[in-house]
Amino acid sequence: MDSDIKQPEGATFGIESIITAAYNNHLANRNGAPADYIPELAVVDPDRFGIAVATVDGKLFTAGDTDHSFTIQSVSKAFVYCLALELVGRDAVLERVGVEPSGDAFNAIVFDPHTNRPFNPMVNAGAITVAGIVCDVAGAGAFDLILDRLSAAAGRRLTMDESVYRSEAETGHRNRAIGHLLRNVGAVQSPVDQVVDLYFRQCSILVTAADLAHMGATLAHIGENPVTGQQVFELAAVRNTLAVMFTCGTYDFSGSWAYDVGVPAKSGVGGGIVGVVNRQLGIGTYSPRLDAKGNSIRGVAAFREIGDELGLHVFDCSNVGSAYMRSFLE
Ligand code: DON
Repeated sequence: MDSDIKQPEGATFGIESIITAAYNNHLANRNGAPADYIPELAVVDPDRFGIAVATVDGKLFTAGDTDHSFTIQSVSKAFVYCLALELVGRDAVLERVGVEPSGDAFNAIVFDPHTNRPFNPMVNAGAITVAGIVCDVAGAGAFDLILDRLSAAAGRRLTMDESVYRSEAETGHRNRAIGHLLRNVGAVQSPVDQVVDLYFRQCSILVTAADLAHMGATLAHIGENPVTGQQVFELAAVRNTLAVMFTCGTYDFSGSWAYDVGVPAKSGVGGGIVGVVNRQLGIGTYSPRLDAKGNSIRGVAAFREIGDELGLHVFDCSNVGSAYMRSFLE
């Protein structure tokens, strides 16, 4: 699909220098610490930092450690949700998991009191439910289906980190408890052990900041990977996914994120954040030092700065809304 976004002369040079400036401006920030509630997550170099921006016409701009691998963790939730929407359709997914921001921590043991279903697919309870949907459809092939789809979004073959997977499987009692509660209310239907195992595996997929940028660009390019040309996700599923990323993608920080950064995004405790600028860019950042809510501190700061510099906020005065609508007014 050809992009209808025309870049002004010299724009790519501008992107490069803005990314480099954001990298340099936040490199010295050593606040926060890597997640350690999964023991193997603590075994990372805390000072890695990378920023990658991929455009819908296939260009990639990078600064810092953008080829360094880390586990995708909760960033996977957005992409697996997109897959589940395609597998069983929006209505069947909405019966099992809502789209309301919860305002609670990512691992909260709380369901929507009106529906008795998880609030949204970006918190653990919702993501485990979504993993359950993929299990229902694909059974033993569920992980391969997820890995294939995430790989297609990244444009290269991804792999899973066995030691992070084992570490999470050995210590993930809270997620197992959530899984059993979900089974109790009927949100999860496949065997809980199988569903939670799938969730642990999807979280343990290894990516780089460059991969996250490409994956974001695939969503930005309405489901087509801009580099490989492969249609990875369905158009309607992408729209629904971006909506929950916008309202729920950074947990109980989602309101502040929408206010200040204003692009659909998803964070993970591995230190990654993916952001999507509709029809324009995918942005991937990596820095494993997290704040108290589980979001990468340098990642949030970099997104803020790049968003401001490039005018990416969805309500920025330079964003003029739907080009389709404009054609009726001209
Ligand atoms: O559920 C967990 O504990 C992790 N595997 C994923 C959580 C996560 O990334 C939440 N993020 N901020």
